[in-house]
Amino acid sequence: MADLNQIKGINARQIKLLQDNGISTAEALAMSPGSTVAEIDGLGDKTAKKLIWNARNALGMTDFIQAKDIDENVEFITTGSSELNKILGGGFQTGKLTEVYGPFKSGKTALAHTISVTSQLSVKNGGLNTSVAYVDTENTFSKEKIKRIAKRFGLNPSETLSRIFHARIYSSDHQSQMIQKAETLCKTRGVRLIIIDSLMALLRAEYVGIGKLAPRQALLNNIIHTLSRIAETYNCAVLLTNQVSVKMMGMFSTNDAIGGNIVAHGCHFRVMFKTKGFSSNNSLKRRAVIVDAPDLPPEECEFYITSTGIADTDKVEIPESLGLEFEVETLYEEKDDTPSNNSESASEQISLVSVKGIGKGTAEGLKALGISSIDVLVAADPDDLSAKLSGASTSKVLEWQKNAKGLLKT
Ligand SMILES: Nc1ncnc2c1ncn2[C@@H]1O[C@H](COP(=O)(O)OP(=O)(O)OP(=O)(O)O)[C@@H](O)[C@H]1O
Ligand SMILES: [Mg+2]
Repeated sequence: MADLNQIKGINARQIKLLQDNGISTAEALAMSPGSTVAEIDGLGDKTAKKLIWNARNALGMTDFIQAKDIDENVEFITTGSSELNKILGGGFQTGKLTEVYGPFKSGKTALAHTISVTSQLSVKNGGLNTSVAYVDTENTFSKEKIKRIAKRFGLNPSETLSRIFHARIYSSDHQSQMIQKAETLCKTRGVRLIIIDSLMALLRAEYVGIGKLAPRQALLNNIIHTLSRIAETYNCAVLLTNQVSVKMMGMFSTNDAIGGNIVAHGCHFRVMFKTKGFSSNNSLKRRAVIVDAPDLPPEECEFYITSTGIADTDKVEIPESLGLEFEVETLYEEKDDTPSNNSESASEQISLVSVKGIGKGTAEGLKALGISSIDVLVAADPDDLSAKLSGASTSKVLEWQKNAKGLLKT
């Protein structure tokens, strides 16, 4: 990865402007569309074009190369089901966008949770030994589910959780912002899997009616393009889950992914999950269909949703060699009564005002931002929090976090 300062003719102010807009490497700049860069306040058309061209020159992107020299460093992440891996050509691929769409309860979130864990496995065991950025637009991320899946794959549950960077998203604009932040995580924290669960939920809710279609598609185009560039720059795998709408065709109906052609053409792999044919109420068997892929036949397979993620059967076996005392629960989340969870609930009981430096007013401000307990405060991003809470500098937030950690230890 090349730094922006290696680009000919760039100055410190321009570097700062680019970084503030999520473009932090020469590769990112070289792959950005001119119009997006030109829109950055303070850069202008001419400078944007010059900098992009210079970045491409610096990276040798202005010459054709012989096809034998094309770098095809594809790696795979196991989905938890060998059948699903098989029809995907080996698993989830890096460097590409994969869209998984299907009706509710079809297993999209279950897959998102499963690969958040399996991507952390060693390469030998079907992972990338990587960290994960999880963009959660539907508030369906579950720590307990991650812990169970981690146990199934022989990983330490709390270490697994600490390698997942989670962002709860509240608006489409917030979604775009956090996708840019995810790029920073690829650069600084070695993230090589980005999950957006789900891509369209907020856009669908915010942009209602035909009059809003054009701005919605413009935003979507931007999101897909940014993700595609990140996937290629960092050889990162990207999972986009998507909802469906029912299309009536005479007597028949089909499930169509939403988002139109921008999503359909923007994703390299499109996989449909189906509940049809199996009652989703009393069976956890599902079907996956490869709808579109650059070099895969349109195959189908069956898989199961289990309490420990996606699998080939509904009875997931925990390898004895792992020596884990673990039972697979049958359905739905169960209350966890492990000591670690007790300590979490204890930390929830310590009120924010007990933290040195936090008064009643600040505590209320924090609660309004969703920070209602000291463990959430400790986990918050100091820069982010300082930007959202008026009067709180980053150093002040860091000080609160230090004091809060002290309380957690006592
Ligand atoms: N602990 C569990 N054990 C087994 N099955 C579970 C468990 N938790 C949830 N399920 C099943 O998983 C299914 C839900 O899957 P999932 O949340 O992945 O669907 P989804 O495709 O993301 O749906 P949506 O569009 O509503 O987000 C349900 O059928 C539910 O019964
Ligand atoms: Mg879901």
